[in-house]
Order: sequence, then C-alpha cells, then structure tokens
Amino acid sequence: MSARARVAVLISGRGSNMQALAEHAGDDYEIVVVASDRPNAPGLAWAIQHGLSTFALSPKDIGKPVFEAALDGALREAGAEWIALAGYMRLLSDAFVAKWRGRIVNIHPSLLPKYKGLDTHARALAAGDTVAGCSVHVVTEELDAGEVLGQHEVAILPDDTAETLAERVLVAEHRLYPTVLKEFVRR
Ligand code: GRF
Repeated sequence: MSARARVAVLISGRGSNMQALAEHAGDDYEIVVVASDRPNAPGLAWAIQHGLSTFALSPKDIGKPVFEAALDGALREAGAEWIALAGYMRLLSDAFVAKWRGRIVNIHPSLLPKYKGLDTHARALAAGDTVAGCSVHVVTEELDAGEVLGQHEVAILPDDTAETLAERVLVAEHRLYPTVLKEFVRR
C-alpha cells in the first residue's frame, strides 16, 4: 500500500470535526499538523493532548499576507499535501487558494448549493425546509462554491430550533468528513 496522505487541518474553534478526522486517520491519511488563526482555539488543546503537531498565529497586527505566508510555510514544513478546513472561520486569499489548488476541502453545514455562508440552519428553518444536512466540498476562490464531494442529509423535525438542528447536523458532519476525505485523497 502506498504512503498515507499527509493532511493539515485548519480550525478556529472547538474543532470537533478535526477530532473526528483525527479519530478516523489510519491507512488512508494522517494529520501532520493542526493549524489555527486563533491561538486560544479550544481545539488546539485537544490536538496537543492527542500528540498532534500544532501551529497557531493570529493575523491581528501582522495582516493577512504575512499571516498566510507563515501558515503556508508551517504547512509545507509539516509536509502537508492536503488541507482540510474544519470550522476555519477566515476566508483564504485567492493567492493562497491558487497555491493549493484542488487540495483544500471544507465541511459546510448545509446541502450545498443551498445556504452558502453563515446561519445555514436558521435559513433552512425560515424557508420551511424539511431536510437539512452537510456537504464536503473543494475550496475555490468563490465562497462555498467548489465541487461537492459528498453530502449527508438530516431530517428537520417540527420542533427544531437552529441549535437543535445544528447539533444533529454536527453528528452527521463527523460521519461524513472522514469518509469523504479518505476517498478524496485517494482519487
Ligand atoms: C461546523 O458546523 C462546520 O460545518 C462549520 O463550522 C462548524 C465547525 O465546528 N464549517 P467544529 O469546530 O468542527 O466543532
């Protein structure tokens, strides 16, 4: 069997999707670094506790180009070949996306192309949808618009709030992301 794909995971917050990716790493991929634009992201502590390499730097004060150059350097130093965004709340610049073209994926809490951007669950409820879900897609310069690699549907229940729906979609995200990442890095 060929070598495992080397994946960098980018987080900004609790990193529950990063944890799911780490827990399912194995023959197909390994996580070589967890990087964050928020040095106090709770997910970083989890990564450190679980023996993963981490990189943290705030773009505040240094500006986006310097931040992204440092991020790019850290990922390359870690030997990353792929980038998985997992609750990374900052837009990557076109230049950064171009450098990693076709090698960045993201998980988004809606059935794309519906509800790109924020507040996906509230928008699905306001629209009277009966089905919500999550998507893993390739990251391009356009927000949440790259090729959809996989989706998981979640039924909307009559009493759902944005919070209760988000909780169930998150469970689906944790199932979907590792599965799709494995297929993607192998194709
Ligand atoms: C998830 O809902 C994901 O779909 C979105 O941001 C949230 C991140 O959650 N992109 P976590 O940090 O992975 O727990």
